[in-house]
Amino acid sequence: MAKRIDVSGLTAYYGSHKAIEDISMTVEPRSVTAFIGPSGCGKSTFLRTLNRMHEVTPGGRVEGKVMLDDENLYGSEVDPVSVRRTVGMVFQRPNPFPTMSIFENVAAGLKLNGSYKKSELDGIVERSLKGANLWNEVKDRLNKPGAGLSGGQQQRLCIARAIAVEPDVLLMDEPCSALDPISTLAIEDLIGELKERFTIVIVTHNMQQAARVSDRTAFFNLAGVGQPGKLIEIDETERIFSNPSVQATEDYISGRFG
Ligand SMILES: Nc1ncnc2c1ncn2[C@@H]1O[C@H](COP(=O)(O)OP(=O)(O)OP(=O)(O)O)[C@@H](O)[C@H]1O
Ligand SMILES: [Mg+2]
Repeated sequence: MAKRIDVSGLTAYYGSHKAIEDISMTVEPRSVTAFIGPSGCGKSTFLRTLNRMHEVTPGGRVEGKVMLDDENLYGSEVDPVSVRRTVGMVFQRPNPFPTMSIFENVAAGLKLNGSYKKSELDGIVERSLKGANLWNEVKDRLNKPGAGLSGGQQQRLCIARAIAVEPDVLLMDEPCSALDPISTLAIEDLIGELKERFTIVIVTHNMQQAARVSDRTAFFNLAGVGQPGKLIEIDETERIFSNPSVQATEDYISGRFG
């Protein structure tokens, strides 16, 4: 559980368009890493290369290496479906399965894997909902539709669904951008708890959020329209927000950008 990520020389394309170029970084287990940078610099693209979701897009192609401890996720023998089980993802808009109950939503990933004993299912669902700080709000209506929850609850439901399969890594792409401030704080608190068990990478446009939740921050940028996005620097979050090494980072976080 909670493995180290080590990316080297990663370049990703959409057809002939090179979206990100030559990215290398390591992510320590049981830590939160925030990705920041202007729109279009490739944060989401890079995030999706970490669980082989990028190649699901037509024309999506990757060069380079992503090691999860001692396994290259792009190795020829690796099954992308099992990678997505090991490296889970939470999206910008909460996307519970609309026809399924709260219970079924959390159990969905397990059922897909077939990797559980029927007798254990109730316990796993309860544990996952507790892990996502949602249990108390839904324990009396587990058989009601997941789509009947508030936006913030739905996002925590999606987090419960993602952690139910016990991934090593949790990727979150702007998980709070559709949420109100109270739900956002609930998710941020939750991220603080989840990092004790998982390796977490979060994309955010909210500088305060990056500063609040992350241990390390990576700043991405692009030289111009049509240019590939690059990793400019990655460092301790405190340092990125107080004394970054690169002027472009300073300009971006202080809003003097563009
Ligand atoms: N499905 C796609 N097909 C073709 N090009 C794409 C696709 N998705 C993204 N791109 C391109 O890849 C580049 C990086 O996009 P990406 O969505 O990764 O940026 P981002 O940093 O996540 O931006 P934002 O902050 O707006 O979410 C952009 O030039 C974008 O137009
Ligand atoms: Mg994005």
